[in-house]
Amino acid sequence: MIENAVGLYALPLGIAQHFIINGKLVLVPMAIEEPSVIAGVSYMAKLAQAGGGFRASATAPEMIGQIQLLDLADLAAAEALILMHKDELLASLHGLHPTIEALGGGAKDLQVRQIATSPIGHFLVVHLIYDVRDVMGANAVNSAAERLAGPLEALTGGRAHLRILSNLADRRLAKAEVTIPTSALAFGAFSGEQVRDGILEAWAFAAVDPYRAATHNKGIMNGIDAVVIATGNDWRSVEAGAHAYAARSGHYTSLSLWEKTENGDLHGALELPLAVGITGGSTQAHPSVHANLKLLGAKSSGELAGIIASVGLAQNLAALRALATEGIQRGHMRLHARQVALSAGAEPAQVAPLAEQLVREDNIRIERAQEILREWSEQK
Ligand code: MEV
Repeated sequence: MIENAVGLYALPLGIAQHFIINGKLVLVPMAIEEPSVIAGVSYMAKLAQAGGGFRASATAPEMIGQIQLLDLADLAAAEALILMHKDELLASLHGLHPTIEALGGGAKDLQVRQIATSPIGHFLVVHLIYDVRDVMGANAVNSAAERLAGPLEALTGGRAHLRILSNLADRRLAKAEVTIPTSALAFGAFSGEQVRDGILEAWAFAAVDPYRAATHNKGIMNGIDAVVIATGNDWRSVEAGAHAYAARSGHYTSLSLWEKTENGDLHGALELPLAVGITGGSTQAHPSVHANLKLLGAKSSGELAGIIASVGLAQNLAALRALATEGIQRGHMRLHARQVALSAGAEPAQVAPLAEQLVREDNIRIERAQEILREWSEQK
């Protein structure tokens, strides 16, 4: 799949449970090295079942290809010319991707943006709106943007410079929503109302403060990236799109929204660009990806995007619930202890008992793990 390959770099692959999404039970493969994430989303998905699970949707899989047009004397005149000849320009892309077009996708629209000032002066940006159907679409959009460059130059007399997709895929949005009955949030000494209000206070912090929003959104991406990776999609493009979308108002903020419903339940929603495919790219070339997609059973890129958004929302809820109550470290350290045990050289059968002892002693350090292993080998 790549140049100069010398081997494979493996990540743990797990399966998140209990997700009911649009009324359907879904098993979600997740590839991630961080402990607690899969346990966290599975537990939240179980809580969400009390409110009917997640509702997910996605807009049309429309990507944006950008063409930068330089050396134009009159931007407004060039824009008018492009818009006047829009139909011919779009028609010039006909037949470029016959499979996508046969499924109803292809070039849909052209939009023109005038950049009045920049370090190199003014220029035009043409946005090609291209429906990529069930593929991630980078190759499809990039080749369409490259193909359109010639006709745009011929029409305007300008010079087409960059021709590349935008990862701010804000026309290809996925949305997930969940309502959790407050009673289902109660645990230990915490009442449902305490947990709900604690989550709302935590969310308010992320809504107004970019320092907190970055961490809050990182938690969301813990869930999202893991499914994006397991399904062979491009997590860097999803990350770039998510954070650019989080800053779309000019102020970087939370990607999710949590509120109290009229009857006092907790309601959460998450919306973000999700350029993911169920076919094409590495989805066919990589055997694990193929198996993971089969397990998920998504019938379209939009359905996959909805599942991924649901997992992101569940992960956000898991983090906020922990942070707003007992703190994140308690559950985290238990799983971290397993990694410490492995790093200390524990045999597979020793990992669980060693991790348990480290947690019991409240001393999850590699030196202590090595000491215990030495004691055990001396006792043999
Ligand atoms: C850790 O990987 C993610 C969290 O920091 C997210 C958050 O703070 O909301 C726990």
